[in-house]
Amino acid sequence: MTTRCDLSPVWAELQAHFAASGRGFDIRDAFQGDAGRFDALSFEAPEVFADLSKNRIDAPTLALLLKLAADCGLEARRDALLRGDPVNHTEGRAVLHTALRAPAGSSAPFNTEVQAALDAMLTFAESVRRGERGPITDVVHIGIGGSDLGPAMVVQALQAFGRRDLKLHFVSNVDGHDLAPVLAGLDAKHTLFVIASKTFTTQETLANAQAAKSWFVAAGGTDVARHFVATSSNTAAAAAFGIDTAFGFWDWVGGRYSLWSVIGLPIAIAVGAGNFRDLLAGAHAMDQHFASTPLAKNLPVLLGLIDIWYRNFHGFTSRSVAAYHQGLRRLPAYLQQLEMESNGKGVDLDGHALPLATSPVVWGEAGTNGQHAYFQMLHQGTDVIPVEFIAVKRPNHGASGELADRLADQHRKLLANCLAQSQALMQGKTAAEALTEKAPTASATLDREVLARHRSFPGNRPSTTLVLDALTPRSLGALIALYEHRVFVTGALWGINSFDQWGVELGKALCNQLLPRLDSGDTSGLDGSTAGLLKRLLAA
Ligand code: F6P
Repeated sequence: MTTRCDLSPVWAELQAHFAASGRGFDIRDAFQGDAGRFDALSFEAPEVFADLSKNRIDAPTLALLLKLAADCGLEARRDALLRGDPVNHTEGRAVLHTALRAPAGSSAPFNTEVQAALDAMLTFAESVRRGERGPITDVVHIGIGGSDLGPAMVVQALQAFGRRDLKLHFVSNVDGHDLAPVLAGLDAKHTLFVIASKTFTTQETLANAQAAKSWFVAAGGTDVARHFVATSSNTAAAAAFGIDTAFGFWDWVGGRYSLWSVIGLPIAIAVGAGNFRDLLAGAHAMDQHFASTPLAKNLPVLLGLIDIWYRNFHGFTSRSVAAYHQGLRRLPAYLQQLEMESNGKGVDLDGHALPLATSPVVWGEAGTNGQHAYFQMLHQGTDVIPVEFIAVKRPNHGASGELADRLADQHRKLLANCLAQSQALMQGKTAAEALTEKAPTASATLDREVLARHRSFPGNRPSTTLVLDALTPRSLGALIALYEHRVFVTGALWGINSFDQWGVELGKALCNQLLPRLDSGDTSGLDGSTAGLLKRLLAA
């Protein structure tokens, strides 16, 4: 049994299948020839319905991809992950974010410790919400990467479950233009700072935390211990920084998988303990689906296999995420870290250079905004970019009266746009069809046939549509866990370590070497470009 998918004999079968029918696969023809295609290629997972039918796949393709997964021991790899084997082998660590959302009393690893940490964090969050730490109106969360993106994305997505009198602010960038405007509007007496850093060594976070502390004192804040708390697996460093209240977690929680741990404190403060537990419950339901559903109906597995089909056979280099819910506008940023930091790797588990492509570029914007920006390229550009649409059936505008009616109507427009885009990508429009249409604006001198070619669409552009009934803590938890497991599936089949991130280290080390040169102006020994840029930046 092989683990790296290109070493499996099934890989060659897939290559032959791609050459024979995969490359020329037309989604429109597939629908023409199969009235049951939607039913056959739509899947239910907890809280998430997935329509995969607008993808360049059919039953034989899926069968081969599933055979590949079986041959590569995907189930054994998954079980090793969930059991707590040290699958992050370059750091000698288990990867157990799933244990963070297992219910109390479950047999998941570290359940007693996890529940104790969760209870302590939620008790604190509730005390802040009840005003027991003084009347707190603003919480400033300082962290970066996994200690920022997950909590920031979730708090924004669950805004409807938050309170107007308790504002959450997220500061991540070492660029002071991030922190300064946040502090400018705050009253120190009513502000709580949460310093989030797994390692508590991250330059950006420590710099922002120091700046926040000095602002707090200068702004008349008297009780630093009461107004600064930390979430970290390095509570000793947090204490050395002068923070008494620190919520700890473990090295087996990866940064980009940490929103379920005490790093989720701002989420709990924003939406309350009950909603935080619902978020965990939604993720746990998806974990169970991933752990026990046969591969052929296992949604993270199917999405991961399609990702491999597109990346390694079709050669598509990116995937665009279009969430048709304004609350999910930070989802692409969150997914960029989740997927690209996890699977942007060039060597396999044994350190051999990979002969196949790994992580695609993941990018996107909330619908409908993206339609008025880059969708032009998705429809008519020279690259084929699979799109992932996310539609939410029921909105939660929190409006009443005439406004509620108007916003309900806008929601129908939102859904119609979402459906129309995947339809347009697939359907396309031939030049002959375009020729029969009257263009709204057109040059009087331009040949009609030339214009028709400008107005035609190739079509056959693939997309997946995920549908949630509503955006709730539970459905959001399930959605995020779905993405986590899909990233695991592709990483496992590529035979890479999805849980380390050595690629971020070199830049950090060079930054530390350059920093003193920004004071001294010393450019000796630097390459010509860096020396030139440094001089330019320091010139009077
Ligand atoms: O530099 C990358 C990274 O290590 C991420 O993996 C991590 O989420 C982020 O920095 C923040 O790290 P920390 O939580 O230790 O401050």
